[in-house]
Amino acid sequence: MSAVRVLVGAQWGDEGKGKITDLLALESDLVVRFQGGGNAGHTVFKGDVPLKLHNIPSGILHRGTLCALGNGMVIDPGALLKEKKMLEENGVDTSGLRISGLAHLILPTHRLLDRALEGQRAIGTTGNGIGPAYTDKSARLGLRLLDFKHPEVFKEKLSKLLDYHNALLTKVFGLPPVDVEEIAETLLVQGSQLLPHLEDVSLLIDRFLAQGKSILFEGAQGALLDLDFGTYPFVTSSSTLAGGACSGAGIAPSRLGEVIGVCKAYSTRVGEGPFPTELLDERGIFLREKGREYGTTTGRPRRCGWLDLVALRYAVRLDGIDSLAITKLDVLDSLSEIPFAVAYRLKGEILGDFPVDPLELAQVEPVYETMPGWECDTSGARSFEELPRAARAYLDRISKILGVSISLVSIGPKREETFFVAAGVPVV
Ligand code: IMP
Repeated sequence: MSAVRVLVGAQWGDEGKGKITDLLALESDLVVRFQGGGNAGHTVFKGDVPLKLHNIPSGILHRGTLCALGNGMVIDPGALLKEKKMLEENGVDTSGLRISGLAHLILPTHRLLDRALEGQRAIGTTGNGIGPAYTDKSARLGLRLLDFKHPEVFKEKLSKLLDYHNALLTKVFGLPPVDVEEIAETLLVQGSQLLPHLEDVSLLIDRFLAQGKSILFEGAQGALLDLDFGTYPFVTSSSTLAGGACSGAGIAPSRLGEVIGVCKAYSTRVGEGPFPTELLDERGIFLREKGREYGTTTGRPRRCGWLDLVALRYAVRLDGIDSLAITKLDVLDSLSEIPFAVAYRLKGEILGDFPVDPLELAQVEPVYETMPGWECDTSGARSFEELPRAARAYLDRISKILGVSISLVSIGPKREETFFVAAGVPVV
């Protein structure tokens, strides 16, 4: 039987998914990204060398693992080629890269429009052109990677789209137009370098399933940034939930297996939007500094706060999370007590469920439960049993409240600082 696993972020992104994928990719024959694009980012280590990845799954570091970019992604060919080159310069074999021809292109004008739109309604996007590229996809104006196969048709479609973008840039935003010819030339050169990697990813998945191989679907961002269920409009433009793997990679829901949700032992968010457990005082600064909470893609400082089990319960339900991977537990090492939200209070009423109305969400006050901290260094722990009793009690409480098991714990950036929790291990 194939092992089919879906790994998703259970918070606002930046949960440390890259590190967990890196670990699970060791047991996978194929790793597939199914949404988003260069807005994602994580650092993985090849020996001691940190490598920053934005589009390519970290499974590329493991010889023999194929890494596919699914149709649900939006891809900037120049940025992808740069990432591929960086890997090759660091001795990584990228011949296992597969790209769905159905994935849409991010054009230079998408970036310009993303930034211009930010000036009008601040969402705090990464500025990578994600929203405008998905807009064109939905409007059926977008270009796809398979269009590179037909240069003449590509040029024709591109020129129509760029004329439209130029009208937006000049007439709506008062910006200079782009040079259509120049962009077409650059893109066609980039396209020719990517063509050898194009593949029918959905078919590849089907063949791997038939051969009993293991597949890992790697989500980007997190549940609360989902276009439909996240804190709209402060969300990304794709389906970040586990179900997004079906439409974003071409696999039927009945064939998906285990869903692993990744969450930090506390919460962070980048960009604008409601964040009920945010700490605006020195405790937030402590989490940011101790957790090195600065964006991999934009370098922006992340907003930090306590763990929010109301939001997490919402993610568990929407993603169908079977087990959680808890990251960055070590960041809490020195604290004498650790609060976490178990409910919200809204106008005197207690809410156990995450409100879908953003105006209500912006007004909720978290109801906290507090547990004693462990006040010692956990970085040396190599198994769940080696964690201090209070740390195990914290994890146990999270698991009991959410009704899901914890399958992995991470206590530092290195690969060996993550361990699996055997099912049935008594927590305290
Ligand atoms: P966009 O995806 O660049 O359009 O940005 C939309 C929102 O999602 C902004 O609040 C970003 O900060 C956030 N976002 C996008 N990608 C990530 C990510 O990988 N981690 C965390 N936040 C992200």
